[in-house]
Amino acid sequence: MIDVHCHLNFQAFEKDRDAVIKRAVKAEVTAIINTGTKIDSSAKAVKLGEQYDNLYAIVGIHPHHVDKLEKDWEQKLEDLARKPKVVGIGECGIDYYAYPSNGITDPNKQKDVFIKQIQIANRLKLPLQIHNRHAGKDILDILLRHTSYLLNPPGMFHCFSGDVEFLKKVLDLGFYIGFDGNITYKGIARGETTSLKDLISYCPLDRILLETDSPYLTPIPHRGKRNEPQYVILVGEFIAHIKGVLKDVIKEQTTRNTMSVFALRNV
Ligand code: NI
Repeated sequence: MIDVHCHLNFQAFEKDRDAVIKRAVKAEVTAIINTGTKIDSSAKAVKLGEQYDNLYAIVGIHPHHVDKLEKDWEQKLEDLARKPKVVGIGECGIDYYAYPSNGITDPNKQKDVFIKQIQIANRLKLPLQIHNRHAGKDILDILLRHTSYLLNPPGMFHCFSGDVEFLKKVLDLGFYIGFDGNITYKGIARGETTSLKDLISYCPLDRILLETDSPYLTPIPHRGKRNEPQYVILVGEFIAHIKGVLKDVIKEQTTRNTMSVFALRNV
């Protein structure tokens, strides 16, 4: 299986990154994509891709970081995006959820930085990895106004949430759908109307991607501890159960899906 979105580039893995990667390989995770959230974490993701064969990078600016950008961030991002192991632009998007650790950044700035990253992705012919929290309407609005900038396929929504109507619209635009360990949590997340199980049931298998968002969103039974890419297997198993198919079917199909969106080698 492939973890298409995690953050081994973060401080949480500084001490034992190599062991974490070895455990993932042992668990038959064939490739890992580290996603940047600002310029320095994007550069770190690129560096890890240079150090490890099975690691790839997605570079971009997370909506939480749009208010502290340096003046030349676009040029810096574009330079990073041209590096060989970079397979996408992200995580970019819009976030209207007030976290204890992070308030909501200026919505206009979020939209502006998202649009600029859509334009960079278009220039470099790279797919998007989109972050959405409680902002589905504004994200769709922007995507629909920029359809001529989108690739085929245009990319993926990371850590999908929303309702079935939103999912339908996103699928219609050609996007793939990423699910994480939070699919194993009971109930419906605050502010959402639809369970992730219902969204998985609705989403066609040939559009699903597996991710962990490590160090966050640790699946049950490890919830409460730091997440790591080896647990992407648990995400795959949970989806296999919901879809009523064997784990191997999920493994093969999601690997094929990953290859359709991102140009990985050696997987
Ligand atoms: Ni993330």
